[in-house]
Amino acid sequence: MPVDDAFSRADLARLYDALNPAGADSEFYLRLATQPCSIVDVGCGTGLLTLLYAQGGHDVTGVEPAEGMLAMARQNDVTALVHWLAATGADFISDNRFDLAVMTGHVFQVFLNDAATLAVLKNIRSHLKPGGRLAFDSRNPLARAFDGWTAEKTLRHIELGGSGTVCVHHQLLAVDGEQVTFETVFDFIDAGRLETSRSTLRFPSQDTIAALLAQAGFDGIDWIGYWDGSAFAPESREIIVVAHKAR
Ligand SMILES: C[S@@+](CC[C@H](N)C(=O)[O-])C[C@H]1O[C@@H](n2cnc3c(N)ncnc32)[C@H](O)[C@@H]1O
Repeated sequence: MPVDDAFSRADLARLYDALNPAGADSEFYLRLATQPCSIVDVGCGTGLLTLLYAQGGHDVTGVEPAEGMLAMARQNDVTALVHWLAATGADFISDNRFDLAVMTGHVFQVFLNDAATLAVLKNIRSHLKPGGRLAFDSRNPLARAFDGWTAEKTLRHIELGGSGTVCVHHQLLAVDGEQVTFETVFDFIDAGRLETSRSTLRFPSQDTIAALLAQAGFDGIDWIGYWDGSAFAPESREIIVVAHKAR
């Protein structure tokens, strides 16, 4: 499964942190690790959260298949705190067994069908210690976030040394059942250059996620709907999951 240009290309990946700074979601994931522990961050991107975990004294592995994102992550890790693996969620291999696995920033939605999702969930579970947890987020399909993915509603202007002003927006292209296709348009104003990256994401329901986690062998699930940790409700924008591996 190829990764999107927005993540594989160095010139687009270097814009990611300016577009997606740490927020309430990062705070939520940091609160999951109160004691020093071993953590794997699957689809870690530029490693923003990965590095915060490592700086907090945890033993951290970052897994990322996209060259552009992983290059940014390695560059940001100036004191080499993290074990970085160039791999997908389904094929990463580590001798380490983890207390906590995370997939943040809607990585879960890049897996477009049950088989692809199960391969990732099973691989992650096999890398957890007994008593370990997997936490991730997926946008609630009932909240239809994609209806707002228009140029008008998503346009952002960022200033980045070396790239000048870049205007970025999302444009919804198609909704086909659970699968939503959109493009991200990067307008490098100073260079007079326009780049687009096309993406498809899956929007599985809570029931689908529950069935997949059960098939992958997870034992119990906490369903959270908001970054303050409160319970999932049908109108929640996010489906935030903490799944447990009993043994
Ligand atoms: C929206 S970014 C989220 C990055 C980061 N977790 C965050 O919270 O900012 C989605 C990430 O998933 C990665 N990705 C794509 N396909 C993947 C796969 N098969 N396995 C693991 N990660 C994947 C992308 O390369 C990208 O870095």
